[in-house]
Amino acid sequence: MRIPIIAGNWKMNKTTAEAIELVNVLKEGMGDTDVKVVICCPYTVLATVKKAVEGTNIKLGAQNMHWEDSGAYTGEISADMLKEQGVEYVIIGHSERRQYFNETDETVNKKVKKALEKALIPILCVGESLEERETDKTFDVVKEQVLKALEDVEASDMKNIVIAYEPIWAIGTGKTATPEQANEVIAYIRNVLKEKYGEEISEIVPIQYGGSVKANNATEIMNQSDIDGALVGGDSLKAESFLGIINF
Ligand code: 13P
Repeated sequence: MRIPIIAGNWKMNKTTAEAIELVNVLKEGMGDTDVKVVICCPYTVLATVKKAVEGTNIKLGAQNMHWEDSGAYTGEISADMLKEQGVEYVIIGHSERRQYFNETDETVNKKVKKALEKALIPILCVGESLEERETDKTFDVVKEQVLKALEDVEASDMKNIVIAYEPIWAIGTGKTATPEQANEVIAYIRNVLKEKYGEEISEIVPIQYGGSVKANNATEIMNQSDIDGALVGGDSLKAESFLGIINF
């Protein structure tokens, strides 16, 4: 049984005061939920959010990290630095990072391996562009992203990884993939894992959907056979909408 994981990706949003306000309302509204809730906030509010979620089930996540342990990498953050802040999850290879910051399958692979080595749970993001979908390349693109990201990742590490399928055309556009479209690709990703690692492992890896998830479509998405949660951007920034998704 895979436990659903609902993660909020705040992207480049929230000052300290705004973060505290949002987390406080979330805490009040959450109640008892069986889903895992993760907040992936900017580096600058990690410590603040960590403190604010103390005593709750909300876990702390980051949105990126570097693959080296330390060194002359101006502006970068290491896995140990994240661990020190209480981070448990880290988004790796988000399409915005691939698109605007030149992340490649190779750097994504290095980051995934470093995160696992440091006992951080990578939320590995994959997904096709609109053009790739329209030219029937979705399955090939996603397979290649998954296999390259997982190159030299041992089977024993696969229990510590989350995959997020985020079709680029559905991110921030209000255009959600239909639940069936999302489930089809996620089931395909599970099959790619099965070919590489065997059935048992393919069945334990949580695979989320991301892209315009909202309170009013969360139930339908989460009810699909292979979808194990959501990676939420815009609607994780307001307590009411994020609570609606958590309590789908
Ligand atoms: P939206 O929910 O705003 O479409 O963003 C999805 C996303 O990119 C989460 O990582």
